[in-house]
Amino acid sequence: MGRAVRFVVALTLGLGLLTWIGHLTLTHTTRRWFERDIELRARLAVASARRSLVRHWAAGEEGGLPDVLADITRDERVMGTAACDLDGHLRAATPGFRDAFTCPRILSRLAAQGVALDAPADWSLTVDLRGGPVHLYGVELPEFSPRGFVVVVHDLSFLSRREATTRNQLLLAFFVLALAAAGITVVAARLAWRGWQDDLRRALRGDGSRQFQPLVRDVRELVARLSQERDADARGGEWSPERLRGVLTQHLHGERVVIVANREPYIHEKTPEGGVRVVHPASGLVTAIEPVMRACSGVWVAHGSGSADRETVDARDRVKVPPGEESYVLRRVWLTETEEAGYYYGFSNEGLWPLCHVADTRPEFRDEDWEQYRKVNQRFADAVCDEVDSDDPIVLVQDYHFALAPAMIRARLPRATIITFWHIPWPNPERFGICPWREELIEGLLGSSIMGFHTQQHCNNFLDAVDAFVESRIDREHNAVVQRSRRTLVRPYPISIEWPVHWLDGLPSPAQCAADVRRELGLAPDALLGVGIDRLDYTKGIEERLAAVDMALERHPELRGRYTFIQLAAPSRTRIPRYQELNDRVEALARKVNERWSEGAYRPVVLLRSHHEPPAVFRYFRAANLCYVSSLHDGMNLVAKEFVAARNDERGVLVLSQFTGAARELTEALVVNPYDLSEASEAMAAALRMPEAEQAERMRAMRSLVAHFNVYRWAGRMLVDAAQLRSRERLSGRLTRVGTRAKELLP
Ligand code: G6P
Repeated sequence: MGRAVRFVVALTLGLGLLTWIGHLTLTHTTRRWFERDIELRARLAVASARRSLVRHWAAGEEGGLPDVLADITRDERVMGTAACDLDGHLRAATPGFRDAFTCPRILSRLAAQGVALDAPADWSLTVDLRGGPVHLYGVELPEFSPRGFVVVVHDLSFLSRREATTRNQLLLAFFVLALAAAGITVVAARLAWRGWQDDLRRALRGDGSRQFQPLVRDVRELVARLSQERDADARGGEWSPERLRGVLTQHLHGERVVIVANREPYIHEKTPEGGVRVVHPASGLVTAIEPVMRACSGVWVAHGSGSADRETVDARDRVKVPPGEESYVLRRVWLTETEEAGYYYGFSNEGLWPLCHVADTRPEFRDEDWEQYRKVNQRFADAVCDEVDSDDPIVLVQDYHFALAPAMIRARLPRATIITFWHIPWPNPERFGICPWREELIEGLLGSSIMGFHTQQHCNNFLDAVDAFVESRIDREHNAVVQRSRRTLVRPYPISIEWPVHWLDGLPSPAQCAADVRRELGLAPDALLGVGIDRLDYTKGIEERLAAVDMALERHPELRGRYTFIQLAAPSRTRIPRYQELNDRVEALARKVNERWSEGAYRPVVLLRSHHEPPAVFRYFRAANLCYVSSLHDGMNLVAKEFVAARNDERGVLVLSQFTGAARELTEALVVNPYDLSEASEAMAAALRMPEAEQAERMRAMRSLVAHFNVYRWAGRMLVDAAQLRSRERLSGRLTRVGTRAKELLP
C-alpha cells in the first residue's frame, strides 16, 4: 500500500507542477493580449475625440475639454482620463483620475522608465496602486499647443480578479484531475494485481501450470518424432515382449543375444540368519534391460557383486534367472578388490561418471584406475566371447563401464553385430577432452556396429568428439562414423520401461497405498505426499529438492503441517568420498528442514536412506500426490516413467527436471529447472493444488506415451537396425567375395 500512496503523491505533484506552469504561461499571455486590447481602445477613443480635443485643448478646464474627456471615460473599464501639458500642469481631468494621479507623477514615472517625450507619440505605463494595477495610455497629438497629452487610465484590478478566479478554477480542475488520475491508476493497478493474483491462483490450482511447460521446441520435436515413429510402428502394432521375440526370430533368425552390463539384475545376498535373499538393484539400466532379457532370453554378463553370488552359480559361473522363472542366463564375472577399486569405483565412477554429467563434481583420472579399467574390460570381453554361439553373434554392450569392450570383442569376433548403448549423457568435446584416454575410449566404442544414446544431442556430442580426437570420416547425412572401411551408426534410442510394469501386480490401490504410507509414517490421514526416489547420487539434485521443499513451506503457509516429502535414497557407490559427503549433506539438510517446520507429529521431510525393493518403491509412487525428479543432469531417468506407470488411477503430478532426457518426452509433467528453487517450489505447490481433472488429463497423455514408447520398442528398434546392418554387410561381403573370385578368373 505504501507504494500506492507514494505513487499517488508523485502523480499529484507532477500534475500540480504542470498545471502551475500552464497557469503562468496563460496569465502572461492573456495579460499581454488584454493590454494590447485596451491600448487599441484608448487610441481609438482619443482618435475619435481628436477634433474636439484639439479644439478645446488650449482652453483646458475652462472650455469643453472636461466633457470631451468624460466622453472618453464612458467605457466601463476606464477609470479616468486627463489632459496634461509637458510642464506638468493639469489641463482637465475626470474625477477618477484626480483620485489616483497627478500630472507631475505621471511625468516623473515616464522619466523613470526612460520614456522620452521629445516628439508627439503614444506611450503606456502599468502602475501598481493599492487597489490593484492600473494601465496608463498616453496620446500626444501634434496639434496640441502647448504640448501635452491625453492619458487614459484603465483599471487592471479586474484583470487580477479574473486571473485569481481562473487560478482558483484551474486549481480546482487540477485537484479533480489529480484525484481522477490517482483513482483510475489505483483501480487499474488493483485490477492488474487482481488479474495477476488470479493467474497465480490458477497456477497454484494447476490450471496455470503452463509456465512449467517444456520449451516449445522440445514439444515440436517430440510431435514430429511421435508422428513419424507412430506411422512406422503402426504396421506392427504396440511393442510387447512377443513382438520383440518376433523381431529376433524374423530378422535375426532367433540368434542368442548376449548382453554385457556391469550391474547384475539379481544380486544374491547372505542374510544375517544364514540364508540367501535376492536383491533387485536400484539401477535404471537394470530396470530397462531386465524385461528385454526376459523377452529375448540369452545371456547377461555382469559383475557378481553379491555376498552369496558365488554360492548360487554353477561351475561355469552361471545362474538362471529370474528366480523361479529362469528365462535367461546370468553369467557372473568375479572381480578382485583391486580390480573393483580401479575399474568400478575409480575410472568408471570417479572419472567417467562426473566427466559425462554436468553436476559440478570434478572427474578424477588415475593411471592405476585406467589400468584396471582396461584389464576388466578385456575380462568381460573375453567372457562375452565365451558365451556366444556363433561367429556373428548379437552383442549388446551397456554403458560407460565398457567403453573399450566393443573393440576388444570385435578383435575376437570381427563379424559380430555389436550394439553399444551409452546410458548416461555424452558431454561436449571440450569437456570430453579432459580425459587423458579420450582417444582410446572413442576407438574402443568405434568397435561397435551401432552406438546408441538417449538423445540426438548426445549423438551429436559423440560425433563431435570423434571428429575432434580420432582419424575417421564422419558421414553426417547418415549419422555414422567410417573408420578403416568399417561403419558405426550413431543413433538416438530413448530408453524406457516395460509396459505394463509387472511389479504392479498385486499391489493395493493408490488410495490404499496412500492410507498405508501415511499410517506407517505417522502422518495425518489427509497429509499431502511428495516422493523422490533415487540412488544417493550428486547428479540427482536431492539437496536442491529438499531446499525446494523448504521454500515451498516458507512461501505457502497452508502447506505447513500438511505436506510431507518422502525421500527414498538408496545408498550408492559408498566407498567414494564424494558420495559419503553427499550422504552427510543430505542428512543435515533434511534435519534442518525438519527442525524448521516440524510441529507435533508433523515432519516435512522423511528421509529413508536404505535400499527399497521394487514393490515398496511402487507403493510410494502410488501413494504420492506428486513425484519430484530433480536431476541436475540425467541421460533419461526412468524413475519419472515408473511413476507414470504406477498411476493407473490417473492421479498424481510429475514435477520433472528439464535436464533429464525424460523431459523431452513427458511434456505433460511440470517441467522445472531444479537449480531454480523458486520455480521448483512453486511447481510443487501447483502440483498439490492441481484439480483432479487436470491431473488425469496430464497423466493419461504421459501414460499413453510411455505405454507406446516402451522398452520393447527401444530394444526392438535397435535390433531391427542391427538386422538391416547385418543383411547389408552379408550382401556386401558376398559382393566382395564375388569380386575377388572374378579377379581370380581374370587373366
Ligand atoms: C546409472 C548407470 C547404470 C548403473 C546405475 C546404478 O543408471 O547408468 O549403469 O547401473 O546408475 O549404479 P551402480 O553403480 O549401482 O550400478
